[in-house]
Amino acid sequence: MKTTVSVIKADIGSVSGHCVSHPALMEKCDEVLANALETGILEDYYITRCGDDIDLIMTHRNGELNEEVHKTAYDAFIQATEIARDLKLYGAGQDLLSDTFSGNVKGMGPGCAEMEFKERRSDPVIVYCMDKTEPGAFNLPIFKIFADPFNTAGLVIDPSLHDGFSFEVFDVMEHKKVVLDCPEEMYDLLALIGSTGRYVIKRVFKKNGEIAAAVSTDKLNMLAGEYVGKDDPVAIVRAQSGFPANGECVEPFAFPHMVSGWMRGSHNGPMMPTSQEEANPIRFDGPPRVVGLGFQVTDAKLVGPVDLFDDPAFDETRRQSANIATYIRRHGPFEPHRLPSEEMEYTSLPGVMEKLEPRFEDMDDD
Ligand code: 13P
Ligand code: 13P
Ligand code: MG
Ligand code: MG
Ligand code: MG
Repeated sequence: MKTTVSVIKADIGSVSGHCVSHPALMEKCDEVLANALETGILEDYYITRCGDDIDLIMTHRNGELNEEVHKTAYDAFIQATEIARDLKLYGAGQDLLSDTFSGNVKGMGPGCAEMEFKERRSDPVIVYCMDKTEPGAFNLPIFKIFADPFNTAGLVIDPSLHDGFSFEVFDVMEHKKVVLDCPEEMYDLLALIGSTGRYVIKRVFKKNGEIAAAVSTDKLNMLAGEYVGKDDPVAIVRAQSGFPANGECVEPFAFPHMVSGWMRGSHNGPMMPTSQEEANPIRFDGPPRVVGLGFQVTDAKLVGPVDLFDDPAFDETRRQSANIATYIRRHGPFEPHRLPSEEMEYTSLPGVMEKLEPRFEDMDDD
């Protein structure tokens, strides 16, 4: 019998501004998911938040893109949005683009990462939740976990990892996908995924086809046909026994890599790994956060989690991230702190251009 892990997330309102989800919203989600547990749709669940995004981590026997599971998550978000509206929370219902459910959450606003697998004798699974960034923020850490031998010792010294992994990459602009093998096609893979706003790692597989990782790649700007927001992403990664070790899966986050998002979804800034409790992006609405939760998946139940970045060994990373934030912030409205105009979530440029249009003159040749 197979087990499915589904992580469905949405920002449905926060306090104050875009900082933190209100506990009442999480309680409502808990109520809806507890009901789904009782009716047998779910086997288990755990609810967390990263900043203003609520993450529903669910296990069940129904496979990926299951209508009942997706409807459960959507109903939870819809019902919690009513509370968000009553409390006049900021951005109430922000990520819900439609109030009529049609089969699954694809294209409806929430982000989703899912994987179905046959449980091993022991099956460690890690869920990462990010805020104030975009799905491409996972490209660098997922690459390092599954393809960089300087990160993952197992690629070199563990025979069960030595063959490497295959990466499924989405071109989110053209709606196309390609699968590239590592280490054989590593340079081609890097040529694509270095463009984090366009090429996004969606899944990673072992060479025998077994699923190793899945990332939510839903981009609100593409879904809505216009730029309504970056989608704060989630990822699921399997660890140990044929996959990278738990410690190899958290190691890339010891480097506070630059991602786009942060203030108004329009700035580059350093990622900061934190505990669930400290996932409160406050300074300039950031810097961007990542939370990591380590579970054992046992007969479709979630044992755990361990709050993976609640480890003093990541204190130095957090300090570095804060220092980088101070440095890059001093650029104010200049690139590369501010994103290039075509990638900004907010822009006054068309209005400014319209106003200045009559004052632009041809340049003399001198
Ligand atoms: P243990 O010897 O504690 O099982 O650890 C093995 C391992 O692979 C750690 O990364
Ligand atoms: P969220 O995408 O987390 O809602 O943040 C939006 C924003 O504009 C933060 O400044
Ligand atoms: Mg928000
Ligand atoms: Mg958010
Ligand atoms: Mg966002």
